[in-house]
Amino acid sequence: MAYDLVVIGSGPGGYVCAVKAAQLGLKVAVVEKRATYGGTCLNIGCIPSKALLHASEMYSHAAHGMDSLGIEGLAPKLNLAKMLGHKDATVKSNVDGVAFLFKKNKIDGFQGTGKVLGAGKVAVTSDKGEEQVLETKAIVIATGSDVAGIPGVKVDFDEKVIVSSTGAIALEKVPENLIVVGGGVIGLELGSVWMRLGSKVTVVEYLDTILGGMDGEVSKQFQRMLAKQGMDIRVGAKVTGVEKTKSGAKVTFEPVKGGEATTLEANVVLVATGRRPYTDGLGLAEAGVALDNRGRVEIDGHFQTNVPGIYALGDVVRGPMLAHKAEDEGVALAEILAGQAGHVNYDVIPSVVYTQPEVASVGKTEEELKAAGVAYKVGKFPFSANGRARAMLATDGFVKILADKETDRVLGGHIVGFGAGEMIHEITVLMEFGGSAEDLGRTCHAHPTMSEAVKEAALGAFFKPIHM
Ligand code: NAI
Repeated sequence: MAYDLVVIGSGPGGYVCAVKAAQLGLKVAVVEKRATYGGTCLNIGCIPSKALLHASEMYSHAAHGMDSLGIEGLAPKLNLAKMLGHKDATVKSNVDGVAFLFKKNKIDGFQGTGKVLGAGKVAVTSDKGEEQVLETKAIVIATGSDVAGIPGVKVDFDEKVIVSSTGAIALEKVPENLIVVGGGVIGLELGSVWMRLGSKVTVVEYLDTILGGMDGEVSKQFQRMLAKQGMDIRVGAKVTGVEKTKSGAKVTFEPVKGGEATTLEANVVLVATGRRPYTDGLGLAEAGVALDNRGRVEIDGHFQTNVPGIYALGDVVRGPMLAHKAEDEGVALAEILAGQAGHVNYDVIPSVVYTQPEVASVGKTEEELKAAGVAYKVGKFPFSANGRARAMLATDGFVKILADKETDRVLGGHIVGFGAGEMIHEITVLMEFGGSAEDLGRTCHAHPTMSEAVKEAALGAFFKPIHM
């Protein structure tokens, strides 16, 4: 049977594209080599890590955080196996949800490894080695990304002692010591999980700051907060070796500016130094599909590769490696394939780090505006001046709004604080509609809420905040 669309990969980019295309009347098939749908995000990434972040935060609250609220004497006992069970159950309900969506939208699922045989043809090889060829009008490559490792350093991941994020969400025991290579999103989120459960965590980061690329003020304050929680953060340090030892593993690093090397030992080492586009075994070279110099599938403004009829989206193409960016690309591409005008606004893609407190950001950072020579205004409001935050003992952090000096249009929003990952969306919606700091500052916000700090920061960018 011939399809309108065959999607290779069922992560957030692939499955959303498939569902949207089916909703628009296309006959769709999805090829997935994993036993379950949902890709890295649902199976071993975003979803399981959030289950562990939530559970470990509850544990840490019960262990340390309730005395000031008048709740004393809590002595929680950790049942790690049960906590991991909660994570697995969360994954299962999410991946089952995708299977349900496929059924509901009459999408055919093929379990096996997909290979592009050229425009219009995809071979699927099952685990048993049986091959079948699907005929289709369009092919979407949505194969995502894989662990990149450390450039120039041999890392033997065994996912027990030297782990990537995959092993770090499944440790059977809380390691006494954990070294995290890379102070990016994965390192800080999963480092936080194990720190809350009792590990002594050391983060070794190449750049002078953690969360490189985030607004400088935000990452600086956030680094201080994590240090206060007990995370040992070494910045400006280049890791040059990760090796197994008798009792665990050792990490060697040297100052980026030059100087003596340091070696630290730990029970477990998490290497979180980025991800690479995953195109292994897809047959792209044979099919004539061009990659760029970073191994990403090259696409035009309509997600089409250099071969007509073959498209790509998500982590395997340019842009931030974020599930929601892939999802929005999936929707846009499905619309294009159905003859509509699909579009993604890459200037307004939020990003969230799900630590405690959370860090969330949308649009430009102050550093980016400076570099681009844009005249801007800053409005900042600390949660310490917010009534709800005081009531919840969540006064750490602030909201920062950046607006164009001339037009008052909001160009960026940055939040570090409890619930930042939810609050960022009002700035995101405002920016999508081209709104100004005045618009946001004049929008009535319920009292008392943490979100009032967003309104106050906007008032600060426009004129002056009230409560400061
Ligand atoms: P990342 O790119 O966020 O961070 C990797 C860090 O490793 C960088 O700060 C880099 O400077 C550092 N590094 C590289 N080589 C090093 C060396 N030799 N020594 C010391 N440090 C070194 O990558 P990460 O955390 O692995 O995440 C991968 C992708 O997954 C990212 O694109 C991220 O956006 C995405 N992701 C997003 C999440 C979210 O949105 N909450 C959660 C988890 C992952």
